[in-house]
Parts: sequence; C-alpha cells; structure tokens
Amino acid sequence: MIRKRLLNRYVLFIIIFALLLTAIGCNQKEEPIIDQPTFSFEELQREIDIDRAMGYIRELVDFGPRMAGLRGEREAGDYLVNIFEDLSLSTNDEEFPVLVFEAINVELSLKVVDSIKPLKSNILTYSTSTPHGGLNNLPLVYGGLGKRTELTTIDFTNSIAVVHRGDIYLREKVLNCANKGAEAVIIINTDDAPIMATLIDESPIPAIAVSSSEGEKIIEALKDEATSGNLIVETTIEAGNSNNVIGVKKSSMDTSKILIIGAHYDSVNTSGANDNASGVGGLLEIATILKDVDLPFDIHYIAFGSEEVGLVGSNYHALTNYLEGRSNVIGMINLDMIGMGDYLSVNRENSHSSDFLSNIALAAALDLNLKTATSFSGRSDHSPFENLLIPVVFLAYGPLDPYYYHTEFDTFDTLDPQLIKNTIEVVLKTIVTLANNN
Ligand code: BES
Ligand code: ZN
Repeated sequence: MIRKRLLNRYVLFIIIFALLLTAIGCNQKEEPIIDQPTFSFEELQREIDIDRAMGYIRELVDFGPRMAGLRGEREAGDYLVNIFEDLSLSTNDEEFPVLVFEAINVELSLKVVDSIKPLKSNILTYSTSTPHGGLNNLPLVYGGLGKRTELTTIDFTNSIAVVHRGDIYLREKVLNCANKGAEAVIIINTDDAPIMATLIDESPIPAIAVSSSEGEKIIEALKDEATSGNLIVETTIEAGNSNNVIGVKKSSMDTSKILIIGAHYDSVNTSGANDNASGVGGLLEIATILKDVDLPFDIHYIAFGSEEVGLVGSNYHALTNYLEGRSNVIGMINLDMIGMGDYLSVNRENSHSSDFLSNIALAAALDLNLKTATSFSGRSDHSPFENLLIPVVFLAYGPLDPYYYHTEFDTFDTLDPQLIKNTIEVVLKTIVTLANNN
C-alpha cells in the first residue's frame, strides 16, 4: 500500500516536472532572446512622408536668404523652435556671438587708355571697405595663386593684387597679398561664376572675386602697363548673434548616451534650397518619424546657425558641450546638401579618425542599393565634432563640387525629393543598427 502510494507520488512528480519544462520551453519561444533586433527599419521606412519633408524645405526657402545673424536666419530659427516644440522635443535656443557681415556695394572697372570698362564682381564675406571715395587709378599686379612662395619677389604696394583661386584658402591669399602691401585683392574664380565664400574673419584689405571670364579680361588688360583699376567696396561688419536650435528627445531607458543629428539652416546670399534647407528638411522629417519611438539613447537634433561664415554654430556647440567629456556621445550625423546630385557621398573629414559611424551609414546605403561613394571633407558642421574625436558621418549628395552650389540657381525647383528620401532612409537604418546594438 505504502509502496503504491510512493509510486503514485513519484509518477505525479515526474508529470509536474515535465509540465514545468514544457512551460519554460514555450515561454522561451515567446520571449525575445537578448540580442535579437527589437527595432525594425521597414516599419520606420513606411513612415517617411516625402511631401511633408518637402513642405519643411519650402517653408525654410520662403524666408529668403538666411545669412548669419540677419533677419532670414532669425526667422528661420524661430520657425524651427516651433516645429521642435510641436514634436514635443525639449527645445533650446543656443545663442552665440557671430560677426555679422553685409555687402552693400561693389564697383570694379578697368581704365584702358581713356575708356572705362566696368566688370562684374562680388564681395567676399568679411571683406573690409575701401577708403572713402574708393581706390582710383591703381595699377593691377598679377600674383599667381597668391602663395607666399610665389610672392617673394613681388611688391603690391599702392596697387591692387590679382590672383587666381586654388591650392590654398582664400583667407591665406588675402593675407599674403596684404603682407606684400596690396591695397585690395581680386580673386579670379576657376568657374565662370561668382564665388560666395567666407574669409572666416575680418580681412585687412578689401577682397572681391570675379568669374573666370571676367578674370580673362583682367589678365588681358594687365599686358598693357597703362591699364589701371578703380574699386569701390562698401561693407559692414558688426558684432551680433546667431542661434543653434536644439531639440532633445529623451529615451525612457536608463541611459546617458546621446546621438547627435545636425544640419545647418543658414545660407549664403541665395535661397539655399540644397545648401542647406534640404538637410534641415531631412532632419525634421526624421524627428517627426521618431517622435514616438523610444530608443535606447537620447537624440539631440541640432539645426546649426552661421555655418556658411566659418562653422561658427557647430564650433560653439561642440566646444561648449564636449571639450571636457564626450564619451557619452555615440556619434554625430551631419546632413548638408542632400537634394541634388548623382550619388550619396558618405564622408568624414580625416582618414585617421573613427570610422565607427561612417561604416554603419555606408553599410546602410549599400544595403539599400543606393549609388554610393566615400570621401573625405571637412567643409561642414561635423568637423568640430570630429576634431574632438567624436565619431561622425557627413552625408551629402555628390559630386562634392556640386552644381549650383552657392549660386542664385540653388532654388527649391532643382531639388530631387527621391535623393532626400534616400538620405533619410540611410539615417533611419543607421539609427536602427545603433539601437539594436545598444
Ligand atoms: N554645404 C557646404 C559644404 C559642401 C560643399 C557640402 C560641397 C557638400 C558639397 C558648406 O555650407 C560650405 O559652403 N562650406 C564652406 C566651408 C566652411 C568652413 C565655411 C566651403 O565649402 O567653402
Ligand atoms: Zn552647406
């Protein structure tokens, strides 16, 4: 009797044990295993609304030129604050000082024998003005590319220096010519278009640029020693301020990790549709799609001000926030000029810096079967972050010497929405990869 009862208990025990095992087994099938992907790219991809992104771009372009420290930039900044607030991001208007530059008037002419030939020219950002009444009847002296080594035997005293674009920074050319006594400098472009570019800081002498065809006229006239130049440059350079507009999306998880996604919203004196309303439109669309997606890191969306005058906003942000500690920053994704071109260029500035983020973005672009290339460029807002050893990727549509860049032709109608969509997909796929590995 006792033995039978023991046997029954024994059988019962085995049955319960077996049931328990099955329950654990079933349970295991339902629970995701720890490193199984949790975030799906395809789900996010379906949320992309390219008309909405183009709408953001249209609004930015409609403010007119968004030049550093001036009305257009300020109004665009206010618009961005509103959008970030609508997306329930905690929004911060980070103000920083900038030299505000305005070009008022330029008149250049050649005096050949008794006739005056006016030439088309444009003022480089941060050029100073000519003295009251302008520079009159000054000899023009050619200085090659304006490199120091070329100028050793040249004296520009009481004359206007004429140099070609190329090889060294415009600022360096201007300083070299000023050191050799020049009253002003004319830079001849390599293309048949004006140069809209910055001298980074107030220049010691007036500096203007001409297209290659206007430049040829000057070179031709130089052959006659009797030729002289007249130049009036009027500009203002004043202390002012500009803003980075920052939208912070907090993770609900216990993390201090941050992913930065940035795009500059200022422009040169153009509509700046591709450069860089396109990048900001992409940024806003990404922020809209991710509004209710809880990721295992915070995202800082940053629309940078005053990029075009020398990366002033991104420098300010990187140096004030990450000079001391940067280890919690996973990386920085920079979008600049994503709406026109032939292939997606996946870049960073320097081949020695971290390729962690650029490799993930490159893999994403290749997975999406996009026409892709890699390159090195420090010409945009990722540069200050990369200098602080933060992993970066700079996404732009190539060629990196793009059509319509810094010209009046950089308008909304030239943008290709498909390219902007492609870039948004690459960013979302990069974010999914990061999220599933955190
Ligand atoms: N958007 C350009 C940079 C760029 C150029 C991106 C070509 C993609 C292709 C940027 O706004 C710019 O103009 N940068 C300046 C340099 C900066 C330090 C002022 C430039 O390239 O001259
Ligand atoms: Zn740009």
